[in-house]
Amino acid sequence: MSESGVPSKPEIRVLNTSAGLFAAAAEEFATLASAAVDRRGRFCVALSGGSTPKGLYSLLATMPSISWDKVCFFWGDERHVPPDSPESNYRMANEALLSKIQVPAQNVYRIPSEEKDADAAARSYEQTLRTFFHLPAGEFPRFDLIILGTGPEGHTASLFPDSSALEENARLVIAPWVNKFQSYRITFTLPVLNHAACVMFLASGADKAAIVREVLESGNSNLPAQKVHPIGGRLIWMIDGPAATELSQSATG
Ligand code: 6PG
Repeated sequence: MSESGVPSKPEIRVLNTSAGLFAAAAEEFATLASAAVDRRGRFCVALSGGSTPKGLYSLLATMPSISWDKVCFFWGDERHVPPDSPESNYRMANEALLSKIQVPAQNVYRIPSEEKDADAAARSYEQTLRTFFHLPAGEFPRFDLIILGTGPEGHTASLFPDSSALEENARLVIAPWVNKFQSYRITFTLPVLNHAACVMFLASGADKAAIVREVLESGNSNLPAQKVHPIGGRLIWMIDGPAATELSQSATG
């Protein structure tokens, strides 16, 4: 959303291959990180889970030009599992990136998803954010970058269609029950996503072509991924060729 309240127009970049998508996303990450470190001495990024970003994280791990000691890592959502679970978004990022770079342990802010009570884990992580960003009550953190994906039904982070989680406008982190997985998730709320300076969606593969078209071109849908419009921030969609096949020419410029 721009300052005027008009939704920010997404910057849509279509890359021929997934390798091209990861290279473009890594370049954007490095550029944003360099600018944030120059300006404020640190770069605050919230990572996405799922499988798509693994290629980006692996590529970032080979980029020594990034001042990793100035990067603070968070997660936009997490499954309600321990950090060593194969389902864990933290575990995926740690294996692909964090374990391969010189990032101080105190710069890695993992969601305490091993907590038996998912809502307690969400409230604990919210307190972590409020403390880190020195947030007065009612204010939202401004991440330099939030990386997101979208599921085939248009969810993003762990905000799923028709969920009451989409109505949350006060809390930063919540723990909705997700019927599709019959489990709790811990997730940023929409206001946190929409207060980011930059949100970068990654969409790869033919199985995402239909949802990418619906999210980016269907005005009558009401999908969670369509509700992400950073206020006064950038909205970037990095899409590979197979995921872009149903987009109109006008959408891709
Ligand atoms: C998660 C993610 C989720 C993901 C989408 C796309 O915890 O699974 O945060 O929102 O981005 O489900 O996942 P893929 O990249 O695996 O398609």
